[in-house]
Amino acid sequence: MAAEPTRVLILGGTGEALALARALEGEPGLDAIYSVAGATRAPRLPALATRRGGFGGTAGLTGYLYRHGIECLVDATHPFAARISANAAEAARAAGIPLLAVQRPGWTPGPGERWQRVADTAAAARALGREPRRVLLTIGRQEVPAFCAAPQHTYIIRCVEPPERAPPCAEPLLQRGPLRYAEERALLHERAVEVLVTKDAGGTATRSKLDAARDCGVAVVMVERPRLPAAAHTVATPAEALGWLRALSNRDDRWADGVYR
Ligand SMILES: NC(=O)c1ccc[n+]([C@@H]2O[C@H](COP(=O)([O-])OP(=O)(O)OC[C@H]3O[C@@H](n4cnc5c(N)ncnc54)[C@H](OP(=O)(O)O)[C@@H]3O)[C@@H](O)[C@H]2O)c1
Repeated sequence: MAAEPTRVLILGGTGEALALARALEGEPGLDAIYSVAGATRAPRLPALATRRGGFGGTAGLTGYLYRHGIECLVDATHPFAARISANAAEAARAAGIPLLAVQRPGWTPGPGERWQRVADTAAAARALGREPRRVLLTIGRQEVPAFCAAPQHTYIIRCVEPPERAPPCAEPLLQRGPLRYAEERALLHERAVEVLVTKDAGGTATRSKLDAARDCGVAVVMVERPRLPAAAHTVATPAEALGWLRALSNRDDRWADGVYR
């Protein structure tokens, strides 16, 4: 008799999570559910079973894992989504199941690149200085209010949906990335951008804005990643995650005495 497929919950909301979920469509040994927070009105979703919205903290997520017979939790959320990653680590431990973290490496400056690294968005707002400047914010809408503390600057705010609160001199730019190098360069030029503020998201998809900033002489303020809980199993790419999950589903000795080994 064929073994039951391994039930997997993917915490998503990133390109990597979506690529992994799409790779799992029709994968015989793995039965995956894809979860998004529900913060964006029209998230990109795979053809897998999906769910939307928070679980209700660690306890809610742990309960979900039990109720749905989840045997492996994949945290493929954004490197700046620290709360859900902490909850995932705690819930997987409580449920006694493995946690696989999909974490793309952060960016490193190449030749000719000098970034001012700051700990958070409040520090980024301070780093802009006293003199009024034209600033491109690519930090997501939730972080925009931090720049109300520096109202002397003009902000071009790029996000998928409008922020709830913004500094007085704001030019919203509703766009879903990633943009190509030529588009990024044209934007910096047309909007006369002097400073780019971005988060160290890492990956290749959105690096073109940094390449364009370097070539246009635009200063870069880089918000560092938050500290995430260490996961026992970490991979950098969806392909590696798929390989890891396939190996897991092929093991017939996953459980002994109700404990994952
Ligand atoms: N932060 C970013 O810069 C960024 C960028 C691109 C995409 N995203 C994606 O947007 C989502 C929210 O990001 P965030 O920074 O607001 O996260 P967060 O601060 O770590 O999480 C806030 C709350 O949202 C819920 N949540 C987050 N991700 C979820 C998921 N995949 N499925 C179900 N519930 C989820 C959880 O609610 P409960 O406690 O109620 O379970 C969590 O406590 C994440 O899925 C992330 O991958 C974030």
